[in-house]
Amino acid sequence: MRCIFLGPPGVGKGTQAEFVAREFGVPKLSTGDLLRDSVQKKTTLGLEAKGFMDRGELVPDEVVIGLVREKLRSAECQKGFLLDGFPRTVPQADQLELLLQSSGNSLDRVIYFTLPKDEIVKRISGRRSCPRCKAVYHIQAIPPKKNGICDVCETELIQRNDDKPETIESRLSVYDEQTAPLIEYYKGKNVLSELDGSGPVDDVQRRLLALLS
Ligand code: AP5
Repeated sequence: MRCIFLGPPGVGKGTQAEFVAREFGVPKLSTGDLLRDSVQKKTTLGLEAKGFMDRGELVPDEVVIGLVREKLRSAECQKGFLLDGFPRTVPQADQLELLLQSSGNSLDRVIYFTLPKDEIVKRISGRRSCPRCKAVYHIQAIPPKKNGICDVCETELIQRNDDKPETIESRLSVYDEQTAPLIEYYKGKNVLSELDGSGPVDDVQRRLLALLS
């Protein structure tokens, strides 16, 4: 499986990517997770990326492409991968195409998640994440057993800096301007499938499996 999850912030890509990666036994590459990890570790890349992320802007293409190129060339990605949050611009998509061509591979499918804007805002506003094991919750829809505490590793949950109300609108505009053009890009390559991201996680999961199988 060589697959991309595309769609606006907060639509549920990461939640479904965890499940699909387990189900199909492929590595999930989330550029958001990789970048947040670099920020947490205060690496040079992380320090460069932090400002862009906190403002809800995209990290420059060359930085993200470098990160993904290294991962895609690693042994664990040779039999397939699931890309969550990459590509996010046409230049990133072009670079991915070149990378795949150079190894004689191609994309199997791009899943485009959709959800009305008011639902997106509710999902992002209620998201809480574990800074340690990266588990993701939602204060209403997918709450942890103990309020504010991760079920998996008992760490205190946090709200992502870019999930604050003032940043959500700018992330959505950035998506419309820079990422939404990829919908036509992948339609043109006949690999795009649209997925209704509304409703409970299990319902979305069932629709997703039907598309992937
Ligand atoms: P990134 O981490 O990729 O953020 P995103 O695309 O904005 O996506 P999100 O993580 O916000 O949402 P999601 O769709 O994964 O939703 P989730 O499953 O968590 O990127 C962050 C930043 O990094 C970017 O702004 C940029 O700065 C930088 N970056 C990353 N990649 C880049 C790239 N390629 N190029 C340049 N810059 C890049 O779900 C959301 C919430 O809803 C959760 O609380 C979840 O529990 C809940 N939920 C999920 N499904 C359901 C459901 N069915 N019902 C109810 N609640 C649900």
